[in-house]
Amino acid sequence: MKIESKPTTGIIPCPVILLSVEGSPQPNIITLSWVANVCSDPPSVAVGIRSQRHSHALVKEAGNFVLNVPSSEHLEAAKTCGTKSGRDIDKFAECGFHAVASSRISSPMIAECPINLECEVREIVSPGVHDLFIAEVVAFHMDEDVTENGQFDPQKMQAFTYLPLSGQYWSLGKRM
Ligand SMILES: Cc1cc2nc3c(=O)[nH]c(=O)nc-3n(C[C@H](O)[C@H](O)[C@H](O)COP(=O)(O)O)c2cc1C
Repeated sequence: MKIESKPTTGIIPCPVILLSVEGSPQPNIITLSWVANVCSDPPSVAVGIRSQRHSHALVKEAGNFVLNVPSSEHLEAAKTCGTKSGRDIDKFAECGFHAVASSRISSPMIAECPINLECEVREIVSPGVHDLFIAEVVAFHMDEDVTENGQFDPQKMQAFTYLPLSGQYWSLGKRM
């Protein structure tokens, strides 16, 4: 028997992404789970950011951002960047992260995250409380540590996921 509940998207397992964006006096980081692949050519993503977030204004102003994929060792940093605002603290300093220059855009990457996607905003769509920033991936970086013979090796990544409805983080298990 099925149980019908209030409509929600929170049951869908989500990525945990650290979006970094340029800002003054310092760049900012926001944890995001409303992140999706939306197109292969040009390679494009969509990220949903609530309009009241500090990062929302920064992304709108910069017109670009970096999606940094953390590994399990960055869980505490993901919680910090997902609960504190860049209006109040310097999240790079708070998390012990280092900002390094991107190759194609003005927003910096997080050096400590093994994967970084440089993105340029192409379109903003407003379905409701979140604005969707649709952006093209213009450069892609991967730490050698998460590769084997030059290819991405998921086992070396220690990726994790977020289940919004339960508010829990889960590491990814074995290959199926
Ligand atoms: C796991 C996780 C996922 C989140 N996903 C989103 C999201 O997709 N969109 C959003 O607007 N806020 C999301 N948040 C909340 C923001 O990260 C949080 O409000 C943050 O403190 C905003 O920072 P800022 O004010 O510096 O922009 C998420 C928080 C957590 C912990």
